Order: sequence, then structure tokens, then C-alpha cells
Amino acid sequence: MKISFCCTDTKAEPWLAGLRAAFPADVVEQWVPGAEPADYAVVWAPPQQFLDEQPQLKALFNIGAGVDAMLKLRLPPRAAVVRLDDAGMSVQMAEYVCHAVIRHFREFDAYEADVKLGKWSYRKPRLRADFPVGVMGLGVLGERVAKALAQFDFPVRGWSRSSREVAGVQCFSGDAGFQDFLSGTRILVCLLPLTSGTENVMDRQTLSRLLPGGYVINVARGAHLVDEDLIALIDSGHLAGATLDVFRTEPLPAEHAFWQHPKITVTPHTSARTLREESIAQIAGKMAAMSRGEPVAGIVDLQRGY
Ligand code: NAP
Ligand code: GLV
Repeated sequence: MKISFCCTDTKAEPWLAGLRAAFPADVVEQWVPGAEPADYAVVWAPPQQFLDEQPQLKALFNIGAGVDAMLKLRLPPRAAVVRLDDAGMSVQMAEYVCHAVIRHFREFDAYEADVKLGKWSYRKPRLRADFPVGVMGLGVLGERVAKALAQFDFPVRGWSRSSREVAGVQCFSGDAGFQDFLSGTRILVCLLPLTSGTENVMDRQTLSRLLPGGYVINVARGAHLVDEDLIALIDSGHLAGATLDVFRTEPLPAEHAFWQHPKITVTPHTSARTLREESIAQIAGKMAAMSRGEPVAGIVDLQRGY
């Protein structure tokens, strides 16, 4: 069996070493144009030429959870697309989102500003009940995040495509449940995959439905959010601010208004990083299972787009 590694912006050697250790009897190679086609591939943002040179590929293992960029490419005819299924991401996402929610709820930015001025000041404690958090997307990451927020006694709501039950979370689903989900949410977290059905989901219309003083946390993809609508609603006072980890163009262009906006916190797409060892272990396990003809989790439904 031959495994090809083709990951843009990724240091190849440690990945190749990990995959070779998992498959000592097989050929594991970094792709170069014109190389012999492979049976399996480990990819991130592969060039179209790589995919076009893989007529016999059985599966493409994406070293991330989101497959939106890959699904824009022309895929090999029979290859399954397999996404990372947690692999150490969900705990990172829970840390990031809980941190952002608590920082906003407890007004830690304001305390920090006071402390910088040498001010010993108190703010009136806020009520958790006034800060219901709504998580869009209750998949591998969203469910973990929703449960982590519930541990801090925030009222938590969740929205997914199909109806779901998550302990401690008030669940809504589909178009029918979206307006009710939004109208009872004050802090909105986006953990949706980017598909034709979710692009621009956070626009003026939807964000206007949040409770007054709403707050937006986008940790999914930049194209879920209409940037100008967010800024307009913050500047009008309807929204209190936002924490954004993902952007339409990454790196975020130097001239983008998000950088300097006083009510927007920006991080460089780092909320849940791919952890190499966990990911190699997961991919190797799935590849071995597939070669034995066994089913594996995390196969992308190409029609649904996630
Ligand atoms: P997942 O397991 O596929 O879960 C997706 C969830 O979104 C599911 O609950 C799904 O509903 C729901 N959904 C999909 N389309 C919907 C629609 N049209 N309306 C309502 N709900 C919809 O994905 P995941 O592993 O949790 O990851 C989510 C996304 O996070 C990834 O696609 C990626 O873009 C992003 N991500 C970002 C980072 C980062 O560092 N910023 C890291 C990893 C991932 P059903 O349950 O009904 O299917
Ligand atoms: C990162 O954004 C991922 O999709 O894993």
C-alpha cells in the first residue's frame, strides 16, 4: 500500500515519521508532481494537480475538521473524504469558547483597563440567567462546547440541522427552530461547518434577533459572518462585541477594521489546533480499519458538505 502526504503549510517530516512508524511495511511519501499514485492520502489544502494524479485513491484524510476548502476541488472518483473527528480539538475549543464567554460575562477587559490605571474598582455582578449562550452546530465540537458552558451554569441553547438531545442544553433544529433559538440567545457561538446552507448565516437579519447586548464568538469559518453587519450592529449598540478566530481572508489583512475595533477581539485561527500525535493515531487507526474493509467514523457526506 502507498500513502501520500500532501499538506500545504505543514512541516512534513514529523508527519511522515509518525505515519511510517504506524505503517512500517508500507510506502509513505511526501507527494511530488508526477509521483506514482497512492492508495491513501493525508492532506491539507492540496493542489488540484495532486488530486488529479490519484485515480485509484481509496480515501483522503484531511488533517482538520473542516472540509469546506477541499470540497471546492475536483475529487478523485472513488475516494472517501475523512475529516478529523475531535483528535484533541474539542477540549481546545471548549477552553477557547468558555474563556471568551467568561471574559465577556465577568467584564475582565474592563477590570484590566481599570487596573492599568491603578484603579481598585468593583462592578455590579451580572446574572448568569441574563446571558444565555446559543451554540450553532452541535457536532463533535459544538456538543463539547455546549456541555462545558453548562458546567459553568450558563443557560445553554444549541441549534443543529437535525434534532438532537444534549444533557443540560435546550436544543433547537432546522429552519423552523432557528428564530426561537436566536431570540433567546445573548451570546452566540458559531461552530457550524461552512456549506452553501450556512454561509453568511450571521448577517444583519439574524444578529438583530439576538437579545440586546448580544455578543458573537465565531470559531468556525470567516464566511459564516457578514463582517460589515457585525460592525454596524456593534456600533449601533445592539451588540456588545465579538471574539473572532476565523476570517474571510486569512491572515486577516492589515487594513481590516476588525484589528482596531475596541469591542472586537481577534485571534489568528488558533481556537482548536490540529495536534499531530493524536491526529496521526486517529488517521492510522482509520486507514487500517478501511484496509480491512471495516467502517470508520468521520466520513464526509459530499452532498451535505460536512
Ligand atoms: P460536525 O461534527 O460536522 O458538526 C456540525 C454541526 O453543525 C452538526 O451539529 C450539524 O447538524 C450542524 N449543521 C450543519 N449544517 C447545518 C445547518 N444548515 N443548520 C443547522 N445546523 C447545521 O463538525 P465539527 O467537528 O463540530 O466542526 C465544526 C466546524 O468547526 C468545522 O467544520 C470547522 O469549520 C470549524 N473548526 C474550526 C477550528 C478553528 O480552529 N477555528 C478548528 C476545528 C474546526 P446535525 O447534527 O444535524 O448534522
Ligand atoms: C480548522 O479550522 C479545522 O477545520 O480543523
